[in-house]
Amino acid sequence: MTIEEMLSEEDLAWAGDVSGRIQEKMSRVTERTRGKIPYTTGPDGSYDDRSRMDPGEKDWGNGLAWWTNGFWPGILWQLYHACKDRRYEQAARETEEKMDACFLHFYGLHHDVGFMWMPMAVADYRLTGSEDAKRRGLLAAQLLAGRYNPAGRFIRAWNEVGEEDTRGWAIIDCMFNISLLYWASEETGDPRFKEIAMNHADTVMEHFIRPDGSSCHIVEFDPFQGGVVRTYGGQGYADGSAWTRGQAWALYGFSISFRHTGRQEYLETAQRVADYFVAHTPPSGIIPVDFCQPPSPAWEDSCGACAAAGGLIELAQLTKDRTKAVQYMACALRILRAIDRDRSCWDDTCDAIVKNCSGSYHGGPHHITMVYADYFFIEAIFKLTGEGFFIW
Ligand code: GLY
Repeated sequence: MTIEEMLSEEDLAWAGDVSGRIQEKMSRVTERTRGKIPYTTGPDGSYDDRSRMDPGEKDWGNGLAWWTNGFWPGILWQLYHACKDRRYEQAARETEEKMDACFLHFYGLHHDVGFMWMPMAVADYRLTGSEDAKRRGLLAAQLLAGRYNPAGRFIRAWNEVGEEDTRGWAIIDCMFNISLLYWASEETGDPRFKEIAMNHADTVMEHFIRPDGSSCHIVEFDPFQGGVVRTYGGQGYADGSAWTRGQAWALYGFSISFRHTGRQEYLETAQRVADYFVAHTPPSGIIPVDFCQPPSPAWEDSCGACAAAGGLIELAQLTKDRTKAVQYMACALRILRAIDRDRSCWDDTCDAIVKNCSGSYHGGPHHITMVYADYFFIEAIFKLTGEGFFIW
């Protein structure tokens, strides 16, 4: 179904109103954020700067190579597409150029190069045709393809984590990163990138997605022989639980894989995860960190909420099942309206829009702002108004 078929006049008017508020606020925030690459806001409400951190050689992943650094330029490219204001283009390019230094720091980069260079360089290339941006995207795709483990048919997630041996670790988040590989094959005509992406997606379908439609966060494979060693709860409540942001990466990620490949199993998998998400979304539309967490403390995650809403809107347009399409769109609207009504800031007391994001259930941080919640909120609203463009 099309967006117009699924939205009432009142929904459309509301989305248009939110879009207007986004554009007003972001015009001011972009001016005062010039030169920074933000992740979260400090006690005074102003954005921090991940490009100003001065990490040691092995800590680049917490500084300029921080995994969310593509989302600020992603916001700017979405705004540029919506309003054609060249200030957004200039600010996005400044970030993209600054991020080139990351390419020389192996330890800082891992599978999240997709989250980083898709909404930054690939978005730039899609909108402006910049050859520099295309080269950056292809270089990032090569790095991601280089993390493929042929014995286990998975893409390795992180480099070492403390003392942990992570050579066999794959995580659900990577379902988003592989969009970079689909793009690289489409751009170059070289099938290897897409083949790696599909092999990884097939492994995730088999070993991450449970019979009830929920997904685990981390699966450890034997990096030499393949085969599952064990699973971990990761950023969620426990092994076997349902970390909500992971469910969002799964349902949106498999929708993206279906868009790029047309493979029916990916659509069906996206729907199974989406059905689980819809069935567990409370009437309030406020999304917990984990659907299996105890009632108290009532940790929330607006990042997972906004990413899931975007995925549900995407899936509602992809599925041929009209009943499901209506359910997915209704759930997305419930979540986005809850964010707008109860979990947002529209004045200048805070640079971010979306509140109450959580890094993980146990380790936190809890109920802070995170730039990618704003990215996914803006992307979702622009999907509803027709002002956005598809980056992934
Ligand atoms: N990709 C890491 C996270 O969702 O926190």
